[in-house]
Amino acid sequence: MQTSATSKLLVSDIASSVDHVPSSYIRPISDRPNLHDVDISSNSIPLIDLQELHGPKRANIIYQLEHACSSYGFFQIKNHGVPEKTIKRMMTVAREFFRQPESERVKHYSADTKKTTRLSTSFNVGSEKVSNWRDFLRLHCLPIEDFINEWPSHPVSFREITAEYATSIRALVLILLEAISESLGLEKDRVSNTLGKHGQHMALNYYPPCPQPDLTFGLPGHKDPNLITVLLQDEVSGLQVFKDGKWIAVHPIPNTFIVNIGDQMQVISNDKYKSVLHRAVVNSDKERISIPTFYCPSFDAVVAPQQELISEEEDSPAIYRSFTYAEYYEKFWDRALATESCIDSFKFPKT
Ligand code: OGA
Ligand code: NI
Repeated sequence: MQTSATSKLLVSDIASSVDHVPSSYIRPISDRPNLHDVDISSNSIPLIDLQELHGPKRANIIYQLEHACSSYGFFQIKNHGVPEKTIKRMMTVAREFFRQPESERVKHYSADTKKTTRLSTSFNVGSEKVSNWRDFLRLHCLPIEDFINEWPSHPVSFREITAEYATSIRALVLILLEAISESLGLEKDRVSNTLGKHGQHMALNYYPPCPQPDLTFGLPGHKDPNLITVLLQDEVSGLQVFKDGKWIAVHPIPNTFIVNIGDQMQVISNDKYKSVLHRAVVNSDKERISIPTFYCPSFDAVVAPQQELISEEEDSPAIYRSFTYAEYYEKFWDRALATESCIDSFKFPKT
């Protein structure tokens, strides 16, 4: 029996059989990647060596973090403490997951954005007009024991390797949060203390080769709704960050993570640190895998700008009202990744 391409749920199951991008993936002309205009020349995102974070040079590393968070909203880290082997195993098992037969993968398919473990495609198939050239497996992973039994059981090592990776990334995030808190002039544990019970989600993003990468996106420009994201990418480029009016490519460096500020950090810091627009583009000859960890408040946590960063006299009043992360998160998924950040709807009206 022949199945038509359009009856497929996942883009990975049509990608290899098409020589044109199906019309549902084609962006309007005003909203295409314009790959020729992207700055691919240099790696202009700061690279921070965390080796010295717990030694006498801590103040210097904190200063580098402050600079990166306030000027870029993005940075790369090396000597981050996550073992090379853990990284390698995670990337390998992710690749194996997406290489499984369609029948095995689609067992996990769901378009319900509230599900805590699900495989889906594009961004939000329920609300978007144009599809994106991406499949993704999304997993909640804190606390691990609450979710691990929902995770895929194939490949057989999936749960063990993913749990090991998530645990290791969490330890790194907690170190980063202390340093970032300090860099904002707050007590070390302040940011962490505002997050309630803490939440950690992961995505395994799979971007198949695309016959016409200039017509579509892996992920269009967006800002992450969570607190902070730690991204692992394979050796294929695709991530681009918007800086000073243009898109710059972030080329992969082995064993390095890319960290970005999300909307909740922007709120907590009262705009000192900004959540920055970024996107993923696809290419015509190589599949690409990226594995972001989205660290976030728990859904019942109340998020608000921190008192110390508010000053009516110095003309830096609170920019955002307080809200629960549940409220924010729902709004984010409903908006189908509009470029205008959903953060604006949580601002106090200007007087
Ligand atoms: C994301 C994201 C970038 C990438 O999943 O939010 O920005 O390179 N991913 O896959
Ligand atoms: Ni993102």
